[in-house]
Amino acid sequence: MKQQKFKAQIQTKRLILKGRETATFEMATAFSNLIQQNIKFLRKWIGFAWQENTPEISYRKCYKSSQLWHELKEADYNIFLKNGELIGQINMKDVDYKTASGEIGYYMAEKYTGKGYMTEAILALETEFFKRGINRIQICTDKDNIPSVNLAKRCGYKLDGIMRDDSLAASGKGLRSTAIYSKLRAEWQKEQKKK
Ligand SMILES: CC(C)(COP(=O)(O)OP(=O)(O)OC[C@H]1O[C@@H](n2cnc3c(N)ncnc32)[C@H](O)[C@@H]1OP(=O)(O)O)[C@@H](O)C(=O)NCCC(=O)NCCS
Repeated sequence: MKQQKFKAQIQTKRLILKGRETATFEMATAFSNLIQQNIKFLRKWIGFAWQENTPEISYRKCYKSSQLWHELKEADYNIFLKNGELIGQINMKDVDYKTASGEIGYYMAEKYTGKGYMTEAILALETEFFKRGINRIQICTDKDNIPSVNLAKRCGYKLDGIMRDDSLAASGKGLRSTAIYSKLRAEWQKEQKKK
């Protein structure tokens, strides 16, 4: 896959995904607030929700995102509704140009769940990357994270397998098993023909 700049903005019917090209304190504060307001919801499945989450720490994460963005290693997008409300984040991480592969990760505020927003965001992000030549996209999730498992399936990802007791649970206590879902370029192309 050829290395090329990530797309700064991706629009869907209801959403705008804005790339984290530059870290700002405003962005960092908005994410720090979103995580604090949804801490119980996110802690079930997301390890970083257990860490300290001040605006300063959030800024360092946003700054790291912008570095990885410019190194073309990870495309992090903030997800907004068209009325400007920030609802969550999605990224294409571990972009590997030799194998033409990457991994999608995501989370959003609880009050925006159940509306199909993340499905819309995933389908838009995968389209952007399949168009630029990626061959394989994977989604890894705790096998017991039913909303996330259903999301991967709803987006047409196939189960590669389950790595049993392979990593720490989000809380850091105990182990989790990771389900790996993937979609290949040929499968995406088939889906496009059916549309
Ligand atoms: C994982 C997560 C993003 C899934 O959220 P979600 O709301 O289930 O996913 P979507 O935004 O795609 O919405 C799909 C839901 O909306 C419904 N829906 C309504 N309108 C829809 C539409 N136009 N298109 C698709 N689905 C729609 C679907 O039926 C589905 O509901 P159901 O699961 O009850 O059937 C969310 O639970 C989350 O952020 N969790 C915490 C973080 C996390 O676990 N991240 C993943 C770590 S691997």
